[in-house]
Amino acid sequence: MHEFDVLIIGSGAAGLSLALRIDPGMQVAVLSKGGLDAGSTAWAQGGISAVIDEEDSIDQHMADTMDTGAGLCDESAVYQAVVQGKDMVRWLTDLGINFTREKSADGKSYLHLTREGGHTQRRVVHAADATGRAIQNSLIRNIANKENIRIFEQHITIDLITTHKLCDNPKPGFENHCVGAYVLDTVNHRVETFRARHVVLATGGASKVYLYTSNPDGSSGDGIAMAWRAGCRVANMEFMQFHPTCLYHPSAKSYLITESVRGEGGKLLLPDGSEFMHEFDSRGVLAPRDIVARAIDHKMKRLGIDCVYLDISHKPGTFIKQHFPNVYARCLKSGYDMCKEPVPVVPAAHYTCGGVMTDLHGRTDVRYLYAIGETTHTGLHGANRMASNSLLECLVFASATSHEINSDRSPESLDLEIPAWDESRVTEPDEEVVVAHNWDELRRFMWDYVGIVRTTKRLQRAKRRVDLLISEIDEYYSNFRVNGDLIELRNITLVADIIIKSALSRKESRGLHYTLDYPYTDDALGHTDTILDPGTESSAQKPDAWLPEANPQTALFSR
Ligand code: FAD
Ligand code: SIN
Repeated sequence: MHEFDVLIIGSGAAGLSLALRIDPGMQVAVLSKGGLDAGSTAWAQGGISAVIDEEDSIDQHMADTMDTGAGLCDESAVYQAVVQGKDMVRWLTDLGINFTREKSADGKSYLHLTREGGHTQRRVVHAADATGRAIQNSLIRNIANKENIRIFEQHITIDLITTHKLCDNPKPGFENHCVGAYVLDTVNHRVETFRARHVVLATGGASKVYLYTSNPDGSSGDGIAMAWRAGCRVANMEFMQFHPTCLYHPSAKSYLITESVRGEGGKLLLPDGSEFMHEFDSRGVLAPRDIVARAIDHKMKRLGIDCVYLDISHKPGTFIKQHFPNVYARCLKSGYDMCKEPVPVVPAAHYTCGGVMTDLHGRTDVRYLYAIGETTHTGLHGANRMASNSLLECLVFASATSHEINSDRSPESLDLEIPAWDESRVTEPDEEVVVAHNWDELRRFMWDYVGIVRTTKRLQRAKRRVDLLISEIDEYYSNFRVNGDLIELRNITLVADIIIKSALSRKESRGLHYTLDYPYTDDALGHTDTILDPGTESSAQKPDAWLPEANPQTALFSR
């Protein structure tokens, strides 16, 4: 049994920035299911948005965010994020990050600001085209100096431990508290118990639910699934964001080409060299992402083409290599010289706009359980996130959560005994192929039926398949020893179910949710968040609906 004051599950921008802000008198554990840089943070390219330019204003950044969010942003969450943009950039600079700078005619050095979709101003601070790598490395460097922080890499959290799970029959009104988590050490293959006074989910998004994604492998929605099983509400999961421009190449694994290529003048072209974005939006290639991705999808389907093209070759080669050194090198490796020719691109799943519902201090529905970063629904993104607002959200809400935790130093002591994980009645998995097959099947039907353009029939088809997968996986999970793949599959399948249910319940098109059956935005009907409550939803993986007899693995816990 490990005991800490604060358990942070996740080591991306959200998790590590929170860890650095926790009072040094508190003992902190940070878990990552891979290495410390396993999440999306290290992959971020474009940058972090902040009001820095004299021409820009807080009001304008807020207006752009809310316009991109298609009417569903929570104004107080937007204000909280936007007003702190400049401070967050300063905080990162103090940690040692060298953001890209430029010199004015009088020799003064300024932060270079780039532009991306939805932004009406240049306001994206960046470190060339590898902003996330710079942030991740710097956070890791700073964490290394902190004596109160212990790092556990290759530790995948299986489930949260809550008082409602511990007490067979909680009295009515007995508030559910989070008291820790069961965690699989994937190197030593043993399940460990972490007890903590505060538990924070900083586990990133769920884009791995789709066959083609810009995300790293670990984006399997673990935090959303664990929070759901613990009893937390989850909101707006129909709004899965597709990035318009990922490199189209058999070996590229959906490598992202940053939107700032378009911000710096890149054009989108059809195979015959014609531009098409102005047919769809007066902002052209810098329209918000939902519009650009849908336009590309429409052209690809209508013309029967495999991809469209991103062309910045009209800019000087020195400019391209200086601003996009990594993207340039990656494209060149795949046989495309950005300085000389257009690059083939397609949309791919990129960002989870919905997630675990939190307030402005990171608090969830379960006491002492917090959530920050991409795993959350804070209200900032509405129906579509604006580019470069995600890293901002990670930092701002981690900061707010640190205030909450630092000021609550003696939460009620719950003298509860936490039993060790019980594996006495499970055996080694006998058919790993089931797990691999179900992973593939899920990601393919989510791509085909729950993608950029939806219909009720396609969603219902997906729902029937996900129901079947959930029951198969539950049975497998009950009988066999857990491993990383199984834990992730169980989580992503639950998240897929939540995405489909949320999409089925929205009877209009808005932001990232577009359905041919209800192609218009309906403010009378749809001007509200989609909130699913595990206490009232029927789901094969209901929280606390574990069946001790049927699921011998842990008797009491985790389902
Ligand atoms: P992540 O950085 O994804 O970290 C998740 C952490 O949780 C990891 O440490 C992982 O190991 C851990 N974890 C997950 N599940 C478990 C578990 N069960 N047990 C233990 N640990 C677990 N946003 C911007 O604002 N600007 C950009 O320019 C930008 N570019 C992007 C480019 C790409 C290619 C991608 C993929 C995303 C980009 N984004 C960008 C989005 C942004 O990077 C992410 O939303 C953000 O980094 C998420 O940070 P996070 O800390 O919430 O999660
Ligand atoms: C990009 O650089 O295009 C990604 C930016 C983001 O996801 O915010």
